[in-house]
Amino acid sequence: MTTAAPPLIRQRVETSAARASQVWKVYGSGEAQVVALRGVDVELERGRFTAIMGPSGSGKSTLMHCLAGLDSVSRGQVYVGDTEVTGLNDAGLTRLRREKIGFIFQQFNLLPTLTAQENILLPLAIAGRKPDQDWFKTVIDTVGLGDRLGHRPNQLSGGQQQR
Ligand SMILES: Nc1ncnc2c1ncn2[C@@H]1O[C@H](COP(=O)(O)OP(=O)(O)OP(=O)(O)O)[C@@H](O)[C@H]1O
Ligand SMILES: [Mg+2]
Repeated sequence: MTTAAPPLIRQRVETSAARASQVWKVYGSGEAQVVALRGVDVELERGRFTAIMGPSGSGKSTLMHCLAGLDSVSRGQVYVGDTEVTGLNDAGLTRLRREKIGFIFQQFNLLPTLTAQENILLPLAIAGRKPDQDWFKTVIDTVGLGDRLGHRPNQLSGGQQQR
């Protein structure tokens, strides 16, 4: 006989985009040790915008890096959808970052020798996939970068680089 999962649990799994459970992040050791995250529990709902606010140095970037599988946690669990990020090996993490995560860094990390268009399409190129041309045009029109696609990052304004 099988028993169905209680409805509340099933709903939580389906609606959560990302989740942290008792996450700690400790940088360095000894005198230089910084406890950046101290047992953080947070759940980000699917299909919504969530802002993380706090003073400079309070751990916002650290939390986002850990939630996106870009940095390791010292203790605790991170989930993206149903996947436990903290249980993935390097290959699994690479796949997750390429296929599930979009991230605008505080420092942009654009490749300086590539054009705006090449930077935008790089993750798809690495994955060996062809961009959907209609969707590409829609996205570019939405962010208003149509006339800057051939520019390299140092030829773009700060805001254009961010977009
Ligand atoms: N690689 C690191 N090694 C040691 N300490 C670090 C490292 N990265 C961040 N920290 C420290 O961890 C704490 C949290 O940093 P974090 O970058 O997450 O803050 P933040 O909330 O994003 O700040 P800001 O609003 O200034 O961007 C800070 O005290 C910072 O000095
Ligand atoms: Mg930050």
